[in-house]
Amino acid sequence: MRASIICTALGVLTSALAQIPNSPRIDLTKPSYDLWRHKKTAAATVQQSFTFDNVNRRLFIVNRKSSSALDSGDLTISELDFAGNLLGSMNLLACGHGVNIGAQAVGDDTYIWSETDAAASGYGTALWRFKYVDGTTLNSATDGRDRIIPIPEFERGTATVDPVYERLIVRYQSGTVQNMAVFDLDQATAGNFSTPLANWEIPELVEELGAMVDVFQGYAAYGRYVYFLTGESYDASGGVLNSEVLAMDLNTGELVQGPVITRAGSTLEFREPEGMAVYETVAGEVRLFLGFASGESGDRRSNLFYKSALVA
Ligand SMILES: *[C@@H]1O[C@H](CO)[C@@H](O)[C@H](O)[C@H]1NC(C)=O
Repeated sequence: MRASIICTALGVLTSALAQIPNSPRIDLTKPSYDLWRHKKTAAATVQQSFTFDNVNRRLFIVNRKSSSALDSGDLTISELDFAGNLLGSMNLLACGHGVNIGAQAVGDDTYIWSETDAAASGYGTALWRFKYVDGTTLNSATDGRDRIIPIPEFERGTATVDPVYERLIVRYQSGTVQNMAVFDLDQATAGNFSTPLANWEIPELVEELGAMVDVFQGYAAYGRYVYFLTGESYDASGGVLNSEVLAMDLNTGELVQGPVITRAGSTLEFREPEGMAVYETVAGEVRLFLGFASGESGDRRSNLFYKSALVA
């Protein structure tokens, strides 16, 4: 009796603290469709991630800058149209690894949320937000714009934008632990990070979530849920298809679906899972995109697939 009263009280407390309302969820067990295969970006390296400006309907892909060292933190952001034609690019020097980027429309412009101040590891130690301008270069060593440390414990991390519900989702490392924090996008844009809507430790991918490998490759958020992409590359010389997708409850960090193996692009000769993003079409269909690199070393290409079936 007493136990059930405590449980009920806890249930009420948990739902009172849940600040991200319920929303539809993408069914990860349903097939993926091609947007494209083998498209060139402005860099010849494997893509790291990608993002959509859903208002201006633009697509940006982030790669390590061609010919920069692996841990340089130099990135190239390419803009492609939805048919895969390269429209332009900008470079970011000594900024980060490009695990994720986010895009935000401001009128006709796109602002990018990304990493800056790369450590020796090549990973960014702060976030910044800047206007995408084709043909320009931002150098973290000389650029004086504001650094964003959304959570005091943030040591390194990245961000994504939920383009439908307008939230900023930050994955950050503190010590050896990865965490997820969620903010209202308007408040974050105003520099107000005082009250995250959620903030939780990401369970260990293999030990706690049951993924095949502990290799995190991207995340994207839509409403109440955040989706993860994991896995390694393979080609004719080795490796196995171990790329998986998972859905987590953004309020609590509980696993909701997965890990589910994704066979998207499974016929690519070289295939490396790289990035996730959410996009809502003009007709209102929400698509969860999965990115993969293909091609030869020195001539890597972008491949984008999407799932859109909702859990009934
Ligand atoms: C910061 O955001 C929170 C909600 O996210 C709000 O309650 C608070 O008033 C905001 N602070 C300022 C100074 O706007």
